[in-house]
Amino acid sequence: MSTFDFKTITNPGVLNLGVFPARREPDFSKIIKLDANESLLGPSSMVAQRIKQTIDETNYYPDAGALDLKDALASHLDVAPEQLTLGNGSNDILDIIARVFAGPGDDVVFSQYGFIVYRMASEAVNANPVMVPAKAWGNDLDGMLAAITDKTKIIFLANPNNPTGTWCEKPALEAFLSKVPEHIIVVLDEAYTEYSTDGVLPNGLNYLRDHANLIVTRTFSKAYGLAALRVGFAAASAELTNLLNRVRQPFNVNRLALTGAVAALEDQAHLAETVELTAKGMAQWIEGVNELGLGYIPSRGNFICVDVGDALLVTGALAEQNIFVCPLANYGMPAYVRITIGCKEDNAKVLKALKGLVGS
Ligand SMILES: Cc1ncc(COP(=O)(O)O)c(C=O)c1O
Repeated sequence: MSTFDFKTITNPGVLNLGVFPARREPDFSKIIKLDANESLLGPSSMVAQRIKQTIDETNYYPDAGALDLKDALASHLDVAPEQLTLGNGSNDILDIIARVFAGPGDDVVFSQYGFIVYRMASEAVNANPVMVPAKAWGNDLDGMLAAITDKTKIIFLANPNNPTGTWCEKPALEAFLSKVPEHIIVVLDEAYTEYSTDGVLPNGLNYLRDHANLIVTRTFSKAYGLAALRVGFAAASAELTNLLNRVRQPFNVNRLALTGAVAALEDQAHLAETVELTAKGMAQWIEGVNELGLGYIPSRGNFICVDVGDALLVTGALAEQNIFVCPLANYGMPAYVRITIGCKEDNAKVLKALKGLVGS
């Protein structure tokens, strides 16, 4: 047995990372799962139908160019297919971006409480993660601009952000984009953008024309209800897209996922229903936590962060009742749990359970 310490040859950034915790999956019919910002309605029935038609073709590799899905996305979003990069979830895209543009000694800027993958993607390529202190839990855009150095390669910005649900509005984003030097890549992560329909959130795609350094990422995991299939995408200039696709594994999105995503995109009525129910659920949660006298962070995601005092304790006690929520200690928010907005009945059950644990 070798006594060689493989950590001595491991990329230093990797040593700073932990392993994503493994947990045996519970029986979903027996639990209330509000810990991963998944859709309260699940996918459109058209997704399963379309996947069934494809299931016997699993001996064939998927379409490496994802041409059908790109065409569907291009016409839905009014961008050119040449501007799209498909990912095995948008997580894959974030990783690809880090690999394409950052390396040892480079700075990658993101916000305190920013989505954890920004740090993971940066560390994995031995870049320096530069975490900018948050402002009212959200992105401090001026602070992020001030953090730019001649080593900065990428700025990651989620709008709205996970886990906080905080967001920035059009004037602030536009001012920010106009001030970032053109050689620095700005990643605008819009994983939850479909949940906002009132025009308050900027649509990142509108800025692609004027900002050649911008990459907008989105996903089918959230409002479209396809988290298990793993499909996300980036929209950017054709030039940046070409660079991203040099690193993307040719078959990174599987055949069932490609066909399922096309079906999901076609069923916009299902998306609208999901968004409407989520908005109602959010109102139910705000009313509920106000009644309990608990603090919360206003959110434009399909989730809400609630101040429960000792989040690990409360998460554990809820788990004993088969209710799963996400404690935020690893984000440096030990008092907060992030709760995905569920269906009306589940929200009511979880609020009742919370009342038993922390209600005033
Ligand atoms: C802000 C944000 N970006 C990206 C992702 C990645 O999602 P996926 O890889 O499922 O597309 C998530 C998932 O939780 C997220 O919250």
